[in-house]
Amino acid sequence: MNGSTVTEFVFLDFSCTRPAQLFLLTVVLTCYITILLGNTLIMVIVSSEPRLFQCPMYLFLANLSLLDMTLGSVAAPKLVTDLLNGGSTISYGGCMAQIVVFHFSGTAEMFLLSVMAYDRYVAICHPLRYTTIINQQRCFSLLVLCWTGGLIHGVFQMVIMAQLPYCGANVLDNFFCDVPQLIKLACSGIYVAEILIVVNDAVIALPSFLMLLLSYAIILAMLCGRFGKGGRKALSTCSSHLMVVVLYYGPMFFVYLKPSSNTQVDKMASVMYMVVTPALNPLIYTLRNQDMKGAMRKLRQKFLASCLIRGNEISFS
Ligand SMILES: *[C@@H]1O[C@H](CO)[C@@H](O)[C@H](O)[C@H]1NC(C)=O
Repeated sequence: MNGSTVTEFVFLDFSCTRPAQLFLLTVVLTCYITILLGNTLIMVIVSSEPRLFQCPMYLFLANLSLLDMTLGSVAAPKLVTDLLNGGSTISYGGCMAQIVVFHFSGTAEMFLLSVMAYDRYVAICHPLRYTTIINQQRCFSLLVLCWTGGLIHGVFQMVIMAQLPYCGANVLDNFFCDVPQLIKLACSGIYVAEILIVVNDAVIALPSFLMLLLSYAIILAMLCGRFGKGGRKALSTCSSHLMVVVLYYGPMFFVYLKPSSNTQVDKMASVMYMVVTPALNPLIYTLRNQDMKGAMRKLRQKFLASCLIRGNEISFS
């Protein structure tokens, strides 16, 4: 913290009326509860069903759930208490922590979505070679790549931000510490930091996004021809993947890639990818997927059976 005098940052949350704030509070709270319960449920289902746990697609899905929980926890709990109290601050350390965790989970998730696209591409376009291409070991190394890639990116962003001096200005017109706004509060070295960040983002985000687009483009082109039972099932899996991709990338592109910014609208878009999308992922995957629904039914039966047995034990003793 060389030269820094700022020890905390002030958030200007949502400057709307109190009823509107309470409405937002309800939405965020509902989403956060869904994030925690829904994603935990997905991880429990996948790990309790051996048939799913051996299939790379579901291992990827369980990992995505874990990342969704991490991403969802960056801003939502604090936003809830801030909306309750009206107004808020965050410590310097808390701000840096938000940057690491947000960029780590966001990037790891972005990589993972690309890996999932590649996985579906191989499954649909090269079904006979699928088990040799996406074997246990490759699946594991792809996941390690996603997690470490995300971690490196997150730490890199944080190091850039932490070596900038902040000499007084400390008001962020946002509900979490977002790099583009934080950078403007620094009193020197802004230009170099901005270039580093753009280069870093371009190196990370562009290739993985292009791979994602390419995979789904090829899949869609392949599927257009065959609409038998197999084709339709593949299309329905892919459409839920695509829906998640759009929900995730759409608001992010909106916030980060357009030149001028209207902070109120940007804040709503940020709520979308920080809070709403991580809550929608589990719903999209479990409600639209027959295998997940089947596993959920089995789990419920097992659970009910164990309750009955326990009930009997209690009544016998
Ligand atoms: C993520 O994937 C790995 C397999 O490579 C698996 O062992 C692990 O359980 C997965 N994580 C979750 C939360 O399911």
